[in-house]
Amino acid sequence: MTPTTPWQAAMITPAEDFDGAPLLRKEFQLAEGHGGIARATLRATAFGVYEAFINGAPVGDDVLSPGWSSYEWRLRYRSYDVTSLLTPTSVLGVELGNGWYRGRLAWHGMSKLYGSELGFFGQLDIEFEDGHIQSVGSDTTWQSGPSATTFNDLYDGQTIDARRNQNGWAQPGFSPGPHWTSVRVLEFDVDRLAEPVSPPVVRADVVKPVEIFTSPTGKTVVDFGQNLVGWLRFTVQGEAGHAITIRHAEVLEDGELGVRPLRSAKAADTFILSGGEDFFEPTKTFHGFRYTEITGWPGTLTADDVEAVVVHSDLERTGTFECSNELVNQLHRNIVWGLRGNFLDLPTDCPQRDERLGWTGDIAVFAPTAAFLYDVKGFLQDWLLDLAAEQKAADGLVPITVPDALKYCPQPPEFPAPESSALWSEASVWVPWALWEAYGDDTVLKNQYESMTSHTRRVEGLLSPTGLWDTGFQFGDWLDPDAEPDKPWDAKADTGVVATTCMFRTASITAQTARLLGHQDDAEYFDQLAARVQASFLEHYVSGDGTISSDCTTVYALAIAFGILPGSGLRVFAGERLAELVRKNDYRVSTGFAGTPFITHALTDTGHVDEAYRLLLEEGCPSWLYPVTMGATTVWERWDSMLPDGTINPGEMTSFNHYALGAVADWMHKTIGGISPLAPGYSRVRIAPVPGQGIDWANTSLKTPHGTVRVEWRLDDGALALEATLPEGAEADVVLPGGEIRTVQAGTHRFDHRNVAAHLDHQGSR
Ligand code: BGC
Repeated sequence: MTPTTPWQAAMITPAEDFDGAPLLRKEFQLAEGHGGIARATLRATAFGVYEAFINGAPVGDDVLSPGWSSYEWRLRYRSYDVTSLLTPTSVLGVELGNGWYRGRLAWHGMSKLYGSELGFFGQLDIEFEDGHIQSVGSDTTWQSGPSATTFNDLYDGQTIDARRNQNGWAQPGFSPGPHWTSVRVLEFDVDRLAEPVSPPVVRADVVKPVEIFTSPTGKTVVDFGQNLVGWLRFTVQGEAGHAITIRHAEVLEDGELGVRPLRSAKAADTFILSGGEDFFEPTKTFHGFRYTEITGWPGTLTADDVEAVVVHSDLERTGTFECSNELVNQLHRNIVWGLRGNFLDLPTDCPQRDERLGWTGDIAVFAPTAAFLYDVKGFLQDWLLDLAAEQKAADGLVPITVPDALKYCPQPPEFPAPESSALWSEASVWVPWALWEAYGDDTVLKNQYESMTSHTRRVEGLLSPTGLWDTGFQFGDWLDPDAEPDKPWDAKADTGVVATTCMFRTASITAQTARLLGHQDDAEYFDQLAARVQASFLEHYVSGDGTISSDCTTVYALAIAFGILPGSGLRVFAGERLAELVRKNDYRVSTGFAGTPFITHALTDTGHVDEAYRLLLEEGCPSWLYPVTMGATTVWERWDSMLPDGTINPGEMTSFNHYALGAVADWMHKTIGGISPLAPGYSRVRIAPVPGQGIDWANTSLKTPHGTVRVEWRLDDGALALEATLPEGAEADVVLPGGEIRTVQAGTHRFDHRNVAAHLDHQGSR
């Protein structure tokens, strides 16, 4: 019924702003004489964020709806089955907050990027047994009034004054007090309304404190044992007017909250008590934190008094990984938590400081990992629709963040006009491709085809006469560990090499996509483009002996992983040189955002398994395990976000929850775990675990669209015992350590391989 019921609602705004968190209500009678209710559906959205109630009960489990999309073109609405909530006299009540629409966004101190007035748009369609439909839509007959929330902002926090609670405001019979007033209609084009492809944001988990202690300056600090994203909730009683303040931080420094990495985000909630028993839950903000400092708690705070609510998009966990090395397991858990913290309606760089933006480069490299760990098909497809909308409005230019809030923020005059950026803008091609590989559903390729091709063509137009992508600003191998903390772009890798290899990958994927979708002419065009880029790369960046310009790990990793080196000679050389550089650097990580996701793949693909394992298992700084040894519970933005002496890195970009460098999990799943798709969507699976020094067993599983694939292996006295389980209808090529391939069907299969020890010794002696 609902999709065909025409919109009759209007976008309404309260006649008064009510401290930025108004209530809206509409009392109505159910139509009589049509029998019982067959079905009642509420569709709702807002300028800002909303929570909707019918007769006082929440209409759904979602929070922070409608989330953040590119509102200029896509304002998503949620649909709720509310059949069971209605009574003959009913009330539709709504609480609004600033959210992404009107709250602060980005680091320029700006807010109201999308508009200065909050709004609610909702339509309740009630279908009766006789087919009659009664629609109750937001219109000028609604009333608006003040809520208990007196301040709300995603970055800065929320203030709730429980003395302002109005019991029963969303129930029939409530008489609005003198503060209540009318509403106005805002101009709004319903063509912007979009059904979401992504799941809603929900309260996904609850975490209890692990420790409460007094800091050196006498503050009460609660440690939740896990860096997470969400808020605290609790019930409390105390003197009316008394305030409890909660500040949040990811880490401690000198025993106190380390808030400098939050930059200008205040991340503080204040609760003012009513005198009676109060329940507080600040649902119009969110914080990235492990620690909270609680001031003003009446009496002594105990671990039973408060809990942290973990908030993120409602995603199904699909992939698991566990191995014999506990530090690696913790790294994997950190990667999972990094995803959870940053998949809050859109894929963000970080969830805590004055940023929290949909940085395209981060998800360009992390998408394959994400698509293994969770079912992110709808989540990322939805975001890609925003990417395409932004891109279309910008003449094919894929912005560096989606939604593109930065286009509204002042840029220093010396900054060049925005232009496509290698790896970042390439999310337009790489993310759809990762989803295609993971789920085998070409809808995403069809939906994004125009976006993919127009990005590739735009970059084609940016190539120099030499055929290289070597002009314009590039983030390049962002955050190379050898760059100064305040010069994150200052990488060892030549930006032209990074951009040109990325372009090669992009053109190749675009060609494959065109072929898959039957666009033969396009396929040939993009194949030729890829060939031209490759030829230019070889001519200008690869010297006679195979050395690649700037001769550092990232350039070899990308050249190998993206297949830009033809024939075996150059590839073998690149693999040898890469392995040599890794050894020379004592297995410390030497790559930034671009090289890191690909270096372990490049090493193993060229036979340097030992170097890949040693790189992963290294514990000195910088390395993947260094943060784990420092007690990290999420992946950090910088290898050394916390320095070995426990102080926070002085760089102004120092987040403790950035998933980008966690993209190594893709290699862990495919190479240690041994599961990768042989056909998109895993209808055919490649099971090829590559054991290496330092890990004795690994158990990996993936719930694919065809069922669960499980791979377990164990090394015992140099012999490998491998067990692979496949779901009905699937087929796998099992690649054994010597290279022998066995094709198997559904069921559990065991393989014993005796001479793995020799194989490992060989790797070790390389
Ligand atoms: C973000 C990154 C992002 C980068 C690009 C940072 O501020 O946090 O994750 O990709 O900027 O320059």
